[in-house]
Amino acid sequence: MAESRFIRACQGQPVDAVPVWFMRQAGRYQASYRELRRRYSLLQIAVDPKLCAEVTCRPVEDLGVDAAILFSDIMVPLAPMGISFEIRENVGPIVERPIRSREAVEGLRTVDPDTSLDFALEAITRCVDRLGSTPLIGFAGGPFTLASYCVEGGPSRQYLASKRLMWTEPDVFGLLMERLADTVARYLTAQIRAGAAAVQVFDSWIGALSEADYRTSVLPQVRRIFDAVRPWGVPMIYFGVNTEHLLAAMAETGATVIGIDWRIPPREARARLGVSLALQGNLDPAAILAGWNPTKRLAREILAGMADQPGFVFNLGHGVLKESDPAILRRLVEFVHAYPGEADGDDA
Ligand code: CP3
Repeated sequence: MAESRFIRACQGQPVDAVPVWFMRQAGRYQASYRELRRRYSLLQIAVDPKLCAEVTCRPVEDLGVDAAILFSDIMVPLAPMGISFEIRENVGPIVERPIRSREAVEGLRTVDPDTSLDFALEAITRCVDRLGSTPLIGFAGGPFTLASYCVEGGPSRQYLASKRLMWTEPDVFGLLMERLADTVARYLTAQIRAGAAAVQVFDSWIGALSEADYRTSVLPQVRRIFDAVRPWGVPMIYFGVNTEHLLAAMAETGATVIGIDWRIPPREARARLGVSLALQGNLDPAAILAGWNPTKRLAREILAGMADQPGFVFNLGHGVLKESDPAILRRLVEFVHAYPGEADGDDA
């Protein structure tokens, strides 16, 4: 597995071509996924190892990407903690009883992934068998992003309830973050034992915090997660949206790869982070909807700044949008692999 170009790039080693995968590469932009979703909910797919492995492996076969990512959702490991939720179409996760008191946090259960998340571990084993030399990325949500759904009760624009708890009852917020980080660390290490060759922590919504609040209330818990995972020796990717002001602090978590969105030129992120960390990103997912020519132009700009040095993994700056044309994603993969050659001409 150490030979795959995705793993090599994550480790800062030279590669024969820039590796590429896409966040949300399994999802509603695929006809096969939409078809399956007519019969099964997202969570039904996630808890069925056979369906889950099918959905996880499909994009590797259809798009030619260099890694698979386990099909699941960041909310899945919260169920065995005692947090009831649903995933509402075009909305996101809705938590039945938002967690805002010490009693609620103290009532959360410790998760044993081998018993209560066994379906995900079995799905990983199946994927690894089917993928051969292509690595599988395991993942979990970041503690702040998970806490925001727990405290708000659903998606949020301003994170008012989360910030209020963080500022007015820092002990309660801190305990919730600790419990979530503990679950994430246990779940990620179980995924690695089951065969995941790398892990990504999706702390998507940390960009809502100032650097000072991030350092006080989030960074120590993320560091605990990566400290627990590090002995396994796999690449540890840490991703967030709108994180320009947090990059230095994110690097202090101990992650080995930082995932960035499209708001910052990757070359500038590299200048700030240094070459000891690998970078992943960062094409605006909206470009795919605008067509092949803008996609190609923006991809070329990213690659021109990054492909001359090791330690870079091409991705989107956030998840694939459901209106995306799979044919453009496929051309993009070819274009990245062929760079600096041209895999494809302009559209007429
Ligand atoms: O990347 C992959 O292909 C793996 C699968 C994956 C899903 N969710 C499946 C999913 C991953 C890695 C996630 C992570 C996730 N889930 C995050 C972090 C990444 C990010 O996008 O910032 C967050 C914040 C969530 C919570 C969540 N779940 C949201 C905001 C939504 C979107 C709601 C919608 O309908 O647009 C979901 C639902 C979800 N999770 C879908 C998928 C493919 C959407 C579609 C469906 O219902 O089938």
